[in-house]
Amino acid sequence: MLGANMKILIGAATLVAATTMLLGLSAPVLASGDDDNGDRREIGDYEFSSGSPDFVHGVPINPEEAWTLAVGGRIYDNWWNALDVAEPRGTHPAYPEIGQKSGEQTWRCKSCHGWDFLGKDGIYAEGSSNYTGIGGITGAIGRPVEQIAALLRDENHLYTTDMINDEQMGWVAAFVSRGQIDVAKYIDLTTRTMIPGAGDISRGRGIFQTVCAACHGFDGRLLDWGDGDSSNFVGTEASELPDEVLHKVLSSHPGAAMVNLRAFPVQFSVDVVAYAATLPVD
Ligand code: HEC
Ligand code: HEC
Repeated sequence: MLGANMKILIGAATLVAATTMLLGLSAPVLASGDDDNGDRREIGDYEFSSGSPDFVHGVPINPEEAWTLAVGGRIYDNWWNALDVAEPRGTHPAYPEIGQKSGEQTWRCKSCHGWDFLGKDGIYAEGSSNYTGIGGITGAIGRPVEQIAALLRDENHLYTTDMINDEQMGWVAAFVSRGQIDVAKYIDLTTRTMIPGAGDISRGRGIFQTVCAACHGFDGRLLDWGDGDSSNFVGTEASELPDEVLHKVLSSHPGAAMVNLRAFPVQFSVDVVAYAATLPVD
């Protein structure tokens, strides 16, 4: 009996609390007739009537750290596809003679500093077709975002506000300051392969089967970005360029409607790349 009474009491208390909450939350909106007041976290990020910003190039109302670091990582990868702006013309003036690349590719951060953020001291060392002699950016980890953003408009970088505006520069600077990972912990920089045991293949398989397979297929062969003669699947790229795939899993592919795992522990991304490297390559 006592048990039943308690339940009713608790039920009534919950109802009162819920009603109070409803009234409390809706009252300011009703009173002001303005949906833009107050802390959005309390009433939710979006009003029911507003449209949804596009996932690929849009900006959420209330960006969390994970979103900011992921978009920053996409700008680092390829800023014009990430930001949907005109691609740059010609070779970057600071791209050295010794480098083997030319044209728009030389404007990508990764072309000078690498997917491992180590520049000439990492995978893009002397002997690599991506060698430039330029150093890495790990020294900028933890540096103030404004300082990094200012540096990206200097004579080494020459990024104008038409290319990357100030808000967007804040995102890539945040990525440089707080989003870099220690790639050498997971990938052998000399052989450019996953370090055996660095990733948990079973957990990676689980993530792949439930997340990546939705678009890439269980065997990773549903999407092919090869050039016609040769295929390029997730499996191909993960076994040849695991550092690049790790970056894309953490930030997603610029301009593509692809998810990313930035909101989860880095280890999950490492696991999925380790598994992807076991998938068919052609
Ligand atoms: C054409 C080559 C090139 C491109 C592209 C490039 N950088 Fe640099 N970056 C340099 C050079 C040269 C330096 C000077 C220091 C050096 O040689 O390492 C530098 C230095 C830096 C530093 C300072 C490193 C430190 O420890 O002080 C950061 C941070 C940086 N770049 C970030 C970026 C980001 C982010 C992008 C893309 C938005 C980018 N860079 C694109 C050439 C490039
Ligand atoms: C919602 C769909 C979707 C999901 C889920 C998805 N991807 Fe993708 N992914 C894409 C699309 C679209 C592309 C662009 C393909 C192209 O360029 O032809 C892409 C591209 C890639 C690329 C290649 C980028 C390049 O270098 O050209 C890799 C690697 C990749 N995805 C890995 C993954 C992994 C690993 C997962 C799971 C963590 C995943 N993707 C989940 C849609 C998705």
